[in-house]
Amino acid sequence: MAVEIDSIRSVPLFSELAPDELGKIAGMFERRNVTAGTRLTVEGAPGYSFFVIEHGTMDVEHSGQLLETLGPGDFFGEMAIVSGERRSATVTATTEAGVLMLFGTEFRQLERDWPGIVEKITAKIAERNARLAGG
Ligand code: CMP
Repeated sequence: MAVEIDSIRSVPLFSELAPDELGKIAGMFERRNVTAGTRLTVEGAPGYSFFVIEHGTMDVEHSGQLLETLGPGDFFGEMAIVSGERRSATVTATTEAGVLMLFGTEFRQLERDWPGIVEKITAKIAERNARLAGG
């Protein structure tokens, strides 16, 4: 399913981009609708995609422990792509949900052409790590 520019524009991560950039990014994403209970990432498995939540909620779990609940505008799945390691957590839809998906190869293109976006993503990883370190 093609992704419209308006859908990309409403994602906070991409809100500062110019219209032509939004168009390019829209062309890189695919939309996926999932039912409650669908696992988008599985802890310990290899992972090749990055996700942005359009609607619905997702639980992030590590070793069976709930780390965080994510909702519209939140993104996940960046760690395996950035680090090349396996999925650090299992992310499960807790409601019917819609996500925008990007494969690793397109993520590299994002890194190359829009370093500002990737900076926002890495800042989020650092923020999350600091929060975890602080308890
Ligand atoms: P990745 O490791 O690729 O797949 C699981 C995803 O869960 C991970 O990327 C992050 O996007 C997300 N994630 C991991 N740990 C946390 C956390 N503590 N809080 C929120 N999201 C997390």
